[in-house]
Amino acid sequence: MTTLNGFPQPAQWQGKALPNILSRLFQVENGHTLEVAKRHGAYATIGAQLFDKSQFELIELVKDSGLRGRGGAGFPTGMKWSFVPRGTGKPVYLVINADEGEPGTFKDRLCMARDPHLLLEGMIITGFALGVRTAYIYVRGEMLPQITALNNAIREAYAAGLLGENIAGSNYSLDIYVHRGAGAYICGEETGLINSLEGFKGQPRLKPPFPAVSGAFAAPTVVNNVETIMAVPYILANGAKGYRQFGTDKSPGSKLFSVSGDVHKPGVYEVPLGMSYMEFFELAGGLKGELLGCIPGGSSAPVLNADETRKATMDYESLASLKSMLGSGAVTPFNTTTDIPKYLQTIARFYAHESCGQCTPCREGTGYVDRVLDKLVDGHGKDGDIELIKDLADSYEWTTICAFAPGAAWPVQSFIAKFRSHFQAYIDKNPAKAAPRELVAQRPGAFW
Ligand SMILES: Cc1cc2nc3c(=O)[nH]c(=O)nc-3n(C[C@H](O)[C@H](O)[C@H](O)COP(=O)(O)O)c2cc1C
Ligand code: SF4
Repeated sequence: MTTLNGFPQPAQWQGKALPNILSRLFQVENGHTLEVAKRHGAYATIGAQLFDKSQFELIELVKDSGLRGRGGAGFPTGMKWSFVPRGTGKPVYLVINADEGEPGTFKDRLCMARDPHLLLEGMIITGFALGVRTAYIYVRGEMLPQITALNNAIREAYAAGLLGENIAGSNYSLDIYVHRGAGAYICGEETGLINSLEGFKGQPRLKPPFPAVSGAFAAPTVVNNVETIMAVPYILANGAKGYRQFGTDKSPGSKLFSVSGDVHKPGVYEVPLGMSYMEFFELAGGLKGELLGCIPGGSSAPVLNADETRKATMDYESLASLKSMLGSGAVTPFNTTTDIPKYLQTIARFYAHESCGQCTPCREGTGYVDRVLDKLVDGHGKDGDIELIKDLADSYEWTTICAFAPGAAWPVQSFIAKFRSHFQAYIDKNPAKAAPRELVAQRPGAFW
């Protein structure tokens, strides 16, 4: 049995057991079924271990564990839960963000296909801690195997008394619905997701108010990533200390990293936070060719050059010190054969296509960068184009409703700062590079 990536993760690495908090059932045949999952310990926490605790104790436990959101921003999970106001008379909703649109990220889809019951168990615990009666899993529409696996698991859980009224004989009741999105990157942004869940256009809302105070249907709402919630059963079963046996002091626990690009064994690996990127590449079969750089946490994360990559460790603090981020945990190393301007062109085209269009700097700026990069890569780059691209990215970095725009600016700014000579080389090949700049024509077939 292989994982979706085709390369099963070894149980041990350099003499030490690798954590399997999240990936325990990834390689177990029929691990997605209730029968097999239960044989491996699923729902063991759904009984006295959960229902004897108060909501306050559960939130404190998750705070003490140091668990941080795995959707991209790395916000402390227990703290987010503590923001939910009590006694407002409104329901509290839990929404699982299973949109997973960040280029290079493919971990949540593996979790949902291989171990949907771990997600449901995490949702029951979270739901009880927050007083949730109704919860949603917002899944990218094209993830059909995952949607089927989730719906089957939910059906099995209802039949076994693990969902619905009086879960496992307790006073707690929870209903879970799978909601299919239509497949837009911006619907992964939590307020865009909530708009889409409510049946509106998937366009982000201004914050504040934050969803914890006023989210879905104007009620307090906690939005958490799939992987974040799948870590919760382990924390309840093993305590904050048990979770902290992995990772570093400030970045405790394990994380799923999806690695693609120039490694021999691309795929999803669960490793303790704090592992060095170079060691991680070895785990992923080793690098192909000579390292030129690495995108350390999804396409929005500022790129690292080779020296920075050699220094970096896979935790929030190391990447912040290098002015990048762990993001969604999508790791993409690339070697010296990479055509950097073409690489950035692909990323820029994605952001131009996915901008929801509400904010002028984002809508116009991402499209403009895309067109100038197209022109440069087509051999028509002019003196001043590099500065133009950088100025455009600077102009939309912090001037918009949501974090899409800074996430679109950071790859542009960092690729230019670290690999400028690669862009200049394209310009230098154009004999008319010093001629006055013409208007950058709209690319045929452009989306705006
Ligand atoms: C443009 C954009 C896309 C996002 N896409 C996702 C996504 O696909 N999945 C996800 O969990 N979080 C995504 N996020 C982050 C969410 O807004 C939110 O922070 C996250 O779901 C919170 O869960 P966490 O605290 O468990 O990480 C995205 C953010 C932005 C700005
Ligand atoms: S920053 Fe971009 S994606 Fe976000 S709301 Fe504005 S236009 Fe939409």
